[in-house]
Amino acid sequence: MKKTIAVLFGGCSSEHEISRLSAATVLRNLSRDKYDVLSVGITKSGRWFLTKATPEQVENGEWENHPSNCQAFLTPDRSVHGLFLPASRETVRLDAVIPALHGKNGEDGTVQGLLQLSGIPYVGCAALASAVCMDKAVSHTLLSAAGIGQAKYLWFYSSDYAEQAASVRERIASDLGGYPVFVKPANAGSSVGVSRVERGDDLDAAVAKAAHEDWRVVIEECVTGREVECAVLGNEKPEAALVGEIGASAAFYDYDDKYVNGTSQLFIPARLSQEVIEEIRRTACRAYRLLGCEGLARVDFFVRNETEVILNELNTLPGFTSISMYPKLWEACGVSCPELLDRLLALAFER
Ligand SMILES: Nc1ncnc2c1ncn2[C@@H]1O[C@H](COP(=O)(O)OP(=O)(O)O)[C@@H](O)[C@H]1O
Ligand SMILES: [Mg+2]
Repeated sequence: MKKTIAVLFGGCSSEHEISRLSAATVLRNLSRDKYDVLSVGITKSGRWFLTKATPEQVENGEWENHPSNCQAFLTPDRSVHGLFLPASRETVRLDAVIPALHGKNGEDGTVQGLLQLSGIPYVGCAALASAVCMDKAVSHTLLSAAGIGQAKYLWFYSSDYAEQAASVRERIASDLGGYPVFVKPANAGSSVGVSRVERGDDLDAAVAKAAHEDWRVVIEECVTGREVECAVLGNEKPEAALVGEIGASAAFYDYDDKYVNGTSQLFIPARLSQEVIEEIRRTACRAYRLLGCEGLARVDFFVRNETEVILNELNTLPGFTSISMYPKLWEACGVSCPELLDRLLALAFER
């Protein structure tokens, strides 16, 4: 019998639009021989609708005006095991959910917590790993305790910055080796709120920009080198795909580069020695296990001087658009997008 799968997209997140692109790719590639596929859109203001919009309409945002839309939400009631439609008081039983969501209120453990309550199998990490990987202050602290190489960093509460600006400036000099530095919100994604700061004069503005996205701010030394990404798949015994490299067209791999211009070049495999690539794959799986990831994650690194492997971050719901690295890396390993979705769903059922 076919399984009923719901794809969640949109959401209250600065990455709402990217989520729609990822969802469209998922909707186009899920095998209709194996699955009955439902689309559930979440508006930017947080309203949930079951929709019959096409993948194109999901992609371009027109889905919000689709005449078929009816209010529907995931209920934590396990006897329903799916959606509740308040207008008709109907319920729709689901076999699994694919949260094609990115950033806050989607990739950060919130939706995962609701799915856990509902008892419905779902693709990707559970609540804790999602929340930990989303928060750069927390994940940096855990990974550094495990001895995984990262950029030198510091973090603080944005509300303390007014009083502590002088000590933050001192620590930039003493702990991070001075400018340039990267200033980021602890929680965000897709480079939103991230700045590269060349000199002290620009620090306050960058902190304010990061603080707009989150109540904690992370500052890192600037790593010069290659930027590479490793796709990981699995539950207890994760597998790493090839390693891909980003040749960014801007000063850093920013939001426009990722989604608007499509100007950054991808190299698959990365232009690195086999030895370094193996170290990246091993480190990716180790970090994945350490932080309790399940299903999938894209683990991002820098490589300094062609040899030093520096972990940047883990993305638990990586971009899944037609130009995204995660599906491309598996494709390069011989796993097509429909097959990758089958494997992700199998991992969700296995858990
Ligand atoms: N410490 C760093 N050194 C050099 N470049 C960095 C550093 N941190 C971030 N970047 C650049 O900024 C981009 C976005 O930062 P990242 O930490 O990945 O945030 P996000 O979670 O928004 O993807 C990276 O892809 C990279 O190009
Ligand atoms: Mg990133």
